[in-house]
Amino acid sequence: LGNGLALTPQMGFNDWNAYGCNVSESLIKSTAQAMHTNGMQAAGYTYVNIDDCWMTHSRDSSGRLVPDPAKFPDGIKGTADYVHSLGLKLGIYEDAGTATCAGYPGSLGHETTDAQSFASWGVDYLKYDNCNNNGVAAQTRYTAMRDALAATGRPILYSLCNWGQDNVWTWGANVGNSWRTTGDISASYSSMLSIFHSNVGLASYAGPGHWNDPDMLEVGNSGLSDTEARSEFSLWAEMAAPLIAGTNLTSASATTLATYTNSRVIAVDQDSLGRQGTMVSSSNGLDVLAKPLANGDVSVVLFNETGSTATISTTANAVGKTGAAGYTLTDLWSGATSTTSGTISASVPAHGVVMYRMSGGSSTGGGPTTGEIHAVGAG
Ligand code: GLA
Repeated sequence: LGNGLALTPQMGFNDWNAYGCNVSESLIKSTAQAMHTNGMQAAGYTYVNIDDCWMTHSRDSSGRLVPDPAKFPDGIKGTADYVHSLGLKLGIYEDAGTATCAGYPGSLGHETTDAQSFASWGVDYLKYDNCNNNGVAAQTRYTAMRDALAATGRPILYSLCNWGQDNVWTWGANVGNSWRTTGDISASYSSMLSIFHSNVGLASYAGPGHWNDPDMLEVGNSGLSDTEARSEFSLWAEMAAPLIAGTNLTSASATTLATYTNSRVIAVDQDSLGRQGTMVSSSNGLDVLAKPLANGDVSVVLFNETGSTATISTTANAVGKTGAAGYTLTDLWSGATSTTSGTISASVPAHGVVMYRMSGGSSTGGGPTTGEIHAVGAG
């Protein structure tokens, strides 16, 4: 969406994966405070997002949404003021239907009123869900809220949550800053793997201001091992996905925080070229992904989907590099560097990744993008 926002994928927190319906002002404030002090904000996480269940079950006499006074004693405005005081931004959740997925009032037919409420409260981000939509075409419903948000004059990042229905990637770029490509994620390797497979082929639709969204991160939640969590974070970064932390950040382990704040991996996600990585080879559960970067480097992920350690190999040419006698590989998790004349090969643990940034030579573009043909450069 050409609203000037999400020129790189949005980064932040959302309460849903870890807390479900148990959202509150105190949770949002303590999470914002944690992000402010634990390195998350410094690493680029900006949005602190409220999910479903923040409001009362009916609108007020003027037709406006009402924050639940027991959960949000200072309202959304008071919560936003606090989050802003830390230099962070506040996100909220609504639904493009008659009710949210948890049964609270939806915005269908109330788009102007609700967008004005969000803007008046100081909201910076809207996640817009798809439950109870009465069969009205998604494009109609999501476009109505896009226009209502624009009419407020406040910059509000617009995250579409219609679960990959209606081929949203084919129209989402003109409507939102990101769109969910699948159903809901859960904290399991199988969920992460199936969402990865659904999202990875959609690279040609992503770019600055409009991203494929394979759903919020489960890094730190029980159900994913630390190895699997690092794989999720690496694959999401390689796919230029929104990085929305979905765990309890007030008590996150050092390992979890180290995964979320790996600046080398974040730099891949946030690269200004804005290209989503693609699968350059996949055989028997051993995958190679490549993502071209703005400075001519290429990010390479070797992902072992299988249940036992395996060697995964590829070449400079296969990941879109050419023209040098030697290349430098930086391992983005260990920080170690090595040189190669072209072969890339590593032993990768079960369900794990090895992730490299490859520099040297010139970039051939890293795979096809819709409407573009990349000439193979010579030096
Ligand atoms: C849907 C969304 C989830 C979450 C819940 C809240 O399932 O896809 O991300 O927002 O609704 O009810």
